Amino acid sequence: MDFGLTDRTAFVAGASKGLGYAAALELAREGCNVALCSRDETRITTAADDLREDADVPDDRVLPLVCDVTEEAAVQDAIQDTVDTFGGLHVLVTNAGGPPSGAATDVEPSDYREAVELNLMSTISMCEAALPHLRSAAETDGHARIIMVTSVSAKQPIPTLALSNTARAGVQGYAKSLAEDVGPSGITVNTVLPGYTRTARLEDLAEDIQEDTGQSYDEIEADWADQNALPRIGEPEEFASAVTYLASARAGYVTGVALPVDGGRSKHVL
Ligand SMILES: NC(=O)c1ccc[n+]([C@@H]2O[C@H](COP(=O)([O-])OP(=O)(O)OC[C@H]3O[C@@H](n4cnc5c(N)ncnc54)[C@H](OP(=O)(O)O)[C@@H]3O)[C@@H](O)[C@H]2O)c1
Repeated sequence: MDFGLTDRTAFVAGASKGLGYAAALELAREGCNVALCSRDETRITTAADDLREDADVPDDRVLPLVCDVTEEAAVQDAIQDTVDTFGGLHVLVTNAGGPPSGAATDVEPSDYREAVELNLMSTISMCEAALPHLRSAAETDGHARIIMVTSVSAKQPIPTLALSNTARAGVQGYAKSLAEDVGPSGITVNTVLPGYTRTARLEDLAEDIQEDTGQSYDEIEADWADQNALPRIGEPEEFASAVTYLASARAGYVTGVALPVDGGRSKHVL
């Protein structure tokens, strides 16, 4: 299937590893120019080198950018650098690290503020910076997409991840509002909700559980897998396939959707 992504430009945040890297890789394989960012120069340039090799694309198709997505000015600069380098922007994938573990009363109000900055405000800043360019892309190429990475915890909160549950729900509300607002311009807005997927974030969460329960990593992973209709942990490539579909020309009539990629962990009918 042709996804219509050849020579489109994508900006993927939080992409030095994990889900962001997997999404950037798949988009590059589908023919996109890809700008990818993270907070650390060495990590993001190494990721860009890996991506060029893994996707087998020329050096000038991949642009590594140092950008902490909680800093509005840095986000503006990163989006502008992307447009200056590639001549436009068609696909924005908002993403960042996850907030620390903790039950609702274990964490402080300041922790909630930080989580909202990390996961909600960063999403808003990235969309604000990208929207003028996405409007142009919709007008000239009929192809403009926003995909926000949230979490399965937005649909079905995880008791030990109160910060994530809270901030992600905000992103879902923002996504739905934005989809209505920018739909008439031809821009689609969707969210992808990963369930337990094999990345460094999962190892961090497992360490927290290990400290509390003394369980081995394998036992923790088995518990996570048991919660799913498909009794296993997801792979980043499986998540990236969903992002790529939503980024594609094929998804032109799909907007305002919250798509879990969670092996059936969410138990709601709708
Ligand atoms: N993996 C899962 O099972 C799972 C499940 C549900 C939700 N999620 C959520 O999905 C998102 C991605 O998950 P992941 O598993 O890929 O996490 P990860 O392996 O921890 O990777 C996070 C990425 O984000 C970058 N990053 C962190 N803070 C940033 C910031 N302020 N500005 C720019 N880049 C930043 C990191 O790079 P640098 O350190 O180089 O900046 C890294 O590339 C997270 O929000 C996570 O909570 C993951």
